[in-house]
Amino acid sequence: MLRFQTAGESHGQCLTAWVSGLPLGVPVDLAFINRELRRRQAGYGRGGRMKIEQDQVQILSGVRHGQTIGAPITLQIENKDWSHWEDALPVEDAPGAAEKQRRLTQPRPGHADLAGALKFNLKDARYIVERASARETAARVAAGALAKLFLRPFGLEVLSHTVAIGSHRLERQAGWEEVVAACEETDAEIRCVDPQLSGAMKKLIDHAIAARDSLGGVFEVLAHNVPPGLGSHAHWDERLDARLAQALMSIQAVKAVEIGTGVTNAAAFGSQVHDEIGYDPARRRFTRASNHAGGLEGGITNGEDVIVRGYLKPISTLRRPLPSVDLETKQPVKAAYERSDVCVVPAAGVISEAMVALVLAAAVREKFGGDTLEEALRSFSAYQQQLEEF
Ligand SMILES: Cc1cc2nc3c(=O)[nH]c(=O)nc-3n(C[C@H](O)[C@H](O)[C@H](O)COP(=O)(O)O)c2cc1C
Repeated sequence: MLRFQTAGESHGQCLTAWVSGLPLGVPVDLAFINRELRRRQAGYGRGGRMKIEQDQVQILSGVRHGQTIGAPITLQIENKDWSHWEDALPVEDAPGAAEKQRRLTQPRPGHADLAGALKFNLKDARYIVERASARETAARVAAGALAKLFLRPFGLEVLSHTVAIGSHRLERQAGWEEVVAACEETDAEIRCVDPQLSGAMKKLIDHAIAARDSLGGVFEVLAHNVPPGLGSHAHWDERLDARLAQALMSIQAVKAVEIGTGVTNAAAFGSQVHDEIGYDPARRRFTRASNHAGGLEGGITNGEDVIVRGYLKPISTLRRPLPSVDLETKQPVKAAYERSDVCVVPAAGVISEAMVALVLAAAVREKFGGDTLEEALRSFSAYQQQLEEF
């Protein structure tokens, strides 16, 4: 079973991810993992923190001589900002440490501050902020990069693009090649397939910065060359659409998930929505006239691109803070402000690629098994032959 977890706080020493269940023999390319980490840090509208951190992965276990060894993998990313926070958040208590702590007593609406403070009976939300922060997603991206490296020999690729920033929205479906082109620039500021729209999106972000406000938006993840038959219709928790929805919804600030054109489908007639089935004898495969289902029917991949969208709320920390109440005095105050991003849609797309890759990698492991990559690929080839002979 492919599993992963992360640990680490926003301003702690480091973030770590633990990944278990990859077979032996997956080539591990550190430069690729670091490139993915850089993609997560990029994007127009990011705050000062991303200038401090230049994420680099270290692998502490499970990889030797450039390949997985079939043992749990530990990934580590240092927080450069730790040097500024060591006094405020020391691991061991020391005399005077409490005074240096950077308390957060003015909870920000939209953040975990108040809910977490109530849950743990804390009058200071600092520890809550530290773990709720999306800095944690650097570890997910590193784990997701391993999943992408595992999926590569199966021909399966995962990328994302920006569909909307605030009210500026791409009103058509982008094709795989367009998305590949938009992703070619590692530090792409918006990663939208329409350059004119990208310009308008940047202007809207400039407006939000000037107004000391924030923005959300929509990203779309595409998985290409996905074989039919991943996931299952048999149990609620094996349905791949449900697993993808949880994976995306778990990302900080994602508040809705859409599979294919699921949202607009709800307002259409069935005849306008369901993807007509054809057969191409030359390619010996079934074809679809459209892909409104986003590559998933009955919780099983159907051989078309898997398409998933995530809807992000606007960032909660505002330079023009909203009214709040102090946790200690219960007096009205303005919510706390800490250095913050203004818009993170392109970065959230990269994080979602990682999450989709991890879910697909788990589904590939379930279907094709194998203790070694070679064994898994043999089983995959046999399945491809079965499909051709269908
Ligand atoms: C890549 C990324 C970066 C984020 N950066 C910030 C930030 O700088 N400031 C902020 O207030 N929220 C930021 N968020 C969102 C918060 O982490 C999130 O809204 C908060 O933890 C509450 O969780 P929830 O929105 O899922 O309920 C970011 C989210 C993502 C995905």
